[in-house]
Formats: sequence, structure tokens, C-alpha cells
Amino acid sequence: MSEIVFPEGFVWGSATAAYQIEGAAKEGGRGPSIWDTYSHTPGRTLNGDTGDVAADHYHRWADDLEQLTALGLGAYRFSIAWPRVQPGGSGPVNQAGVDFYSRLVDRLLELGIRPVATLYHWDLPQELEDAGGWPARDTAARFADYAEKIVGALGDRVHTWTTFNEPWCSSYLGYASGVHAPGRTEPAAALAAVHHLNLAHGLAGRVIRELAPAAQLSVTLNLHVIRPASDSAADADAARRIDALANRAFLGPMLDGAYPADLLADTAGVTDWSFVRDGDEQTAAVPLDVLGVNYYSTTLVRAWDGVSPKSDADGHGRSAHSAWVGSEQVEFLPQPGPYTAMGWNIEPAGLTELLLRLHREHPDLPMMITENGAAFDDVVSPDGAIHDDRRIDYLRRHIAATHDAMAAGADVRGYFVWSLLDNFEWAYGYDRRFGIIHVDYQTQQRTWKDSAHWYRTLTTTNHLP
Ligand code: FCB
Repeated sequence: MSEIVFPEGFVWGSATAAYQIEGAAKEGGRGPSIWDTYSHTPGRTLNGDTGDVAADHYHRWADDLEQLTALGLGAYRFSIAWPRVQPGGSGPVNQAGVDFYSRLVDRLLELGIRPVATLYHWDLPQELEDAGGWPARDTAARFADYAEKIVGALGDRVHTWTTFNEPWCSSYLGYASGVHAPGRTEPAAALAAVHHLNLAHGLAGRVIRELAPAAQLSVTLNLHVIRPASDSAADADAARRIDALANRAFLGPMLDGAYPADLLADTAGVTDWSFVRDGDEQTAAVPLDVLGVNYYSTTLVRAWDGVSPKSDADGHGRSAHSAWVGSEQVEFLPQPGPYTAMGWNIEPAGLTELLLRLHREHPDLPMMITENGAAFDDVVSPDGAIHDDRRIDYLRRHIAATHDAMAAGADVRGYFVWSLLDNFEWAYGYDRRFGIIHVDYQTQQRTWKDSAHWYRTLTTTNHLP
């Protein structure tokens, strides 16, 4: 294999999210979010784990930022907890919450690290869920108000503002399959949530443009790489339908200012989409500076014959209710390994394929990989080291796949490994470790895994080790 070298200026970073690392759930005036409620509901998370303490980053943030410097990173992607900024999701700010993020951003700038801030990584203030949550239109207006307050405070000290992380998960896992907070299983509500997230993205995007004109505007999507099981027309149609729900339901309004007609037709039995008002789709299409792409694995679909036991291996957790609204006739097939501890298949070529598709469809829109990484059952060796060779191999192959896409023309500006630290992996609690830095949850001690040392070689040389 010839040497892989990244261009000067390519940004290496790492990513985290507020609820997954901060802890201090009741400190500093923070209000409860849907993830507090959900994780405290028996049976919802593995081992009943909650984010109450997590990696205690709320208290250890300054030391954690030193790790970024030691890793040689040029950027840090974190999220802001709405319930710290506006504990009930509306009204005046909680100054202690704003101050926490303001100090974080200032310190990043002192260290010469670009702050990349996500406004929403799934922690809706509980009061807003009680008022209807994302299926309610008013939540989008509340989000724009929250954006105005926090962007007003942090402004263009933040290099890149990201409105949402993976609205796909917020809508379909939160409101259709129920494996994420708030755990509702209402297909029509899930599609209303899709729309109000798109609308909120547009409203907040306009606020960001106005209040932080020098900052970059982005959104992060978990686009699915969907492959049909055969070249039959039925399987091709299954792939088209899932592509509409997973990808074009967001890319359509956000980038092209319209929902795809096939999505509306496919789901007509679930909802008439009357929650989409005139002008909403144009609002959603606020011009972006960069698109955030999260990638982990691929999806294999087939038209169900209606008789055989239906396979539902979509990688998105187990539920009696499907995340795939209106797609009862589609099945999700297990894929060839190897697999990560999430059970996700490892398929780096899918990342190249995705980046090239986006490049083809939106040639002028730069991209950054805002998440990529893997959970494995890490073992702390007697000498205290964590030899996570499989994670290094995963990262190496996906970073090479990113380079392949760039060589073929894709405009990729940066790569953020998921994650900086082991953390609260949603419904899987602390059982799944994604960090390049190990966290001992008893002592909160941080230890670099071999992958952190490996990543540092890359970030400081631009040569893929
Ligand atoms: C993504 C989430 C992130 C993390 C990774 C493993 O879907 O954005 O918070 O859980 O998966």
C-alpha cells in the first residue's frame, strides 16, 4: 500500500456529546432532559445506567481539554446541553450554564483548538417533551429561541456551529421505535418530528448566520449507506424507500428545499404531512458552509416475501416497533462481518461510497466526518495499557477510505474520531466503550488506549500510520 498523506490544513479532531460525558445532571441549575427521564425509567438502558455522573466532564473539563492538546488535535466537537442553558426549554438563560460553555470555548481558543459546537445532541428539556416534544411545531420555535440565546453569548468564538446531531435518531428512534428518549412509538408523530427538526434547523441556522456571521454553519447527519440484497426490482424499491426515510427526508428539505415526492407517497398511509406549512421547506434550506457526516457501517435491505420470519437487523436496537415508518414490507438483513461490539459490520468502503454520493449530488458543499469510530471490549492489561488493535485497524481503514474519496474528488475538510473518552452510550449505558481514552468509572481516571497514541502520530504528521 502506498503511503497515505493528508493535505496541509486537514483538520483532525475528536467528538463528544453533553449527556454522554458531562454528568452533574442536577448541578449548575441544569434542568431535566428527556434522557434523564428515559435513563431513569427501569428497563430502558442496559444495567439501568444513567448519565448522572458519566465521565464527570462537568468538573474535569479543564483536564480533558489538555488531553486534546496532548493528542495534537486541531478541533474539538462537543455539544451544548439545552437544559443547562434554558432549564425548562424556554425563558431566560441559566447564567451558570452559559458560563460553563463560555469558559470551555475560551480555553479551547487559548489552546489553539477550534470549537465545533452542536446545539442539540438529543437532550430535549423535559418540559418541552411534556408539551408535545418534537412532533409539536412549537418546539422548533423554542429551539430557535435557545439558539438565539446561546449563539448570542458565544457568537463567533465558536468556529463551527452545528444545529443538530443525527435528527434521524431523534425522530425515528425517539418517536417510532422508542429505543431512544422519549421512547414513544407513534409512527405519525415520528414523521412530524422529522419535519419539525428540519424546520428548527432552518430557523436556528438563520439565527446563527445573523448573530455569528464569521462562524461556519453546519448540520450533522447519520446518512445510511443502503444496499439492496439483489438486483431485483423489488429489492431496488426497498432500498429506494429506505433511502427516502433515512437520507432524503433530511437532505431534501435541508439542501434542496423540498421533501422528495416518493417519501410523501410512501408514507401517505401514516400521515398526510399537513404539518408542513407553506414556506417551511424553504426555511429548512438555509445555506450551509459544511455538511457533517457520521459513519459507522452499512445497511442491507430486501423486499419481504410476507411469509418468512422477517429479519430486522438494522443495527438500531431491539424494539417491537419499527423505526422504519410505513416500510413493513422491507426487511433488514444481517451483513458479513467483522463486527464491532455494537454488532455493526465493519465496511470502510461504505464511507467512500457515501462521500462520493454526496459529492456527486452537492459538488459545492464541503464535508467533514464528524463521527467515526468503534466500540470493542477493551481490556486493561496488567501493565495498565489498553491494546486496542482492532480499534486502530478500524480507524486506519476508515481514514484510508476517507482519503480514497478525497482522491476521487470529494471535498472533505476534517475528521473527528468518536469518541475522545469512553462515555454513556445511550441505551447501551457504559457497557460499550468508544473512547480512544479509557475511563475508569470508579476513579474517573483517564488512560490513553493504544489508539490514542496511534491517532497522535497521524494528527501530528498527516501521514496515516
Ligand atoms: C452516534 C451518536 C453518538 C454515539 C455514536 C456511537 O449515533 O451521535 O452520540 O452514540 O453514535
